[in-house]
Amino acid sequence: MEYTKYFSNVADWAKSNPIRRLTALINRPGIISFAGGVPSPETFPYNEIAEIASRLVHEKGAEVLQYGLTRGNRQLIEYLVAQMQRLGIKTNTEEIMLTSGSQQGLDLLARLLAEPGDIILAELPSYIGGTYALNNVGGTLTGLPMSEDGLDLAVIRDKVLKMRDLGCQVKLIYTIPNFQNPSGITLSLEKRKSLLTLASELDLLILEDDPYGELYFDTPPPPPIKSFDTEGRVIYLGSFSKVLTPGLRTAWIVAPSEIIAKVELIKEAADLCSSMLDQAIVAECARQDLIQGRLGKLREFYQVRCQTMLSALDKFAPKGTTWTRPTGGLFVWVELASQIDTTEMLSKAVENGVAYVPGAPFYVSDAKVNTLRLAFSKETPERISVGIEKLCQML
Ligand SMILES: Cc1ncc(COP(=O)(O)O)c(C=O)c1O
Repeated sequence: MEYTKYFSNVADWAKSNPIRRLTALINRPGIISFAGGVPSPETFPYNEIAEIASRLVHEKGAEVLQYGLTRGNRQLIEYLVAQMQRLGIKTNTEEIMLTSGSQQGLDLLARLLAEPGDIILAELPSYIGGTYALNNVGGTLTGLPMSEDGLDLAVIRDKVLKMRDLGCQVKLIYTIPNFQNPSGITLSLEKRKSLLTLASELDLLILEDDPYGELYFDTPPPPPIKSFDTEGRVIYLGSFSKVLTPGLRTAWIVAPSEIIAKVELIKEAADLCSSMLDQAIVAECARQDLIQGRLGKLREFYQVRCQTMLSALDKFAPKGTTWTRPTGGLFVWVELASQIDTTEMLSKAVENGVAYVPGAPFYVSDAKVNTLRLAFSKETPERISVGIEKLCQML
């Protein structure tokens, strides 16, 4: 049967994620993998979650195995109001909604805010899950260059005004200000404030995606952009995936109540509600201080791995190679000599026992084919040193 005549435009817009296509290659057994952008399973509190899940099902089964509110678990939302306050975001229960991972939040917000023809500004490079969600509703992604301290603000005004002159609708900037996936870059305090002023001047919304902010090493990153927002211009996304476990698929959106009410309607059609059991487990983890209380250890855990990777790069990387020096998160971004195409090089790297993710797919435009992302989350410090040495020898 020929199905394309039945398909909507979304079938054309939806792109396959090139990283997923590389899965077989980068997950080959035995290799040292810097590819997977996931938290280390060593950090998951297995026994505690098993005990909580079992108790919840036995004692509150009728509630946690049932459908629930589309907005999510009330207790967890109240916990988040307090947590957001700690980061300087003044909010209330009407402005928070839980989602099945931030990925769902990005999808729902994309559906709410973007439509075919809209221009959306995103960092170069940026998180593929975010840019694809915006792309899948017909949005046109336009790239914004970054420097060591985040977005290059000087180009934004020019870009937006030029596109508006051409009759384009420019509504939104998508940014990951803390220890960005994939680059590890953090947006400076000054730039956070200037970005907000610029967004106000140009009448743009800011989508602030922050799954890594709590994973800092020595000092916290600057406060979220949302904390400076007096106009309701910033939509903030947070997630429990990297600070507890992604398997519980629990994350949240903070936005003006008018936006949350609309997102709720879209989510109702998507899944009625996120898993009540997952949310109840996360709420109980929060109550038992298994989230905040474990952050110190988690930060130390990733800091050792990051430092090991940076030291190995310092020692072994050939001339002409540059890399970011993240102060938190899970990723280091590497730029090689300009003639090297990291996609072409990947199979050779895997033959040599090391995997990474090529950088090109992370760019919505102007791809730099000589870049790659290294995740320091999965491998042990010993294997990180060995893996970086192997990769550098091959280079
Ligand atoms: C920047 C960014 N945003 C959102 C997500 C999605 O996270 P989750 O859906 O697990 O909350 C990720 C996952 O890696 C990410 O790196």
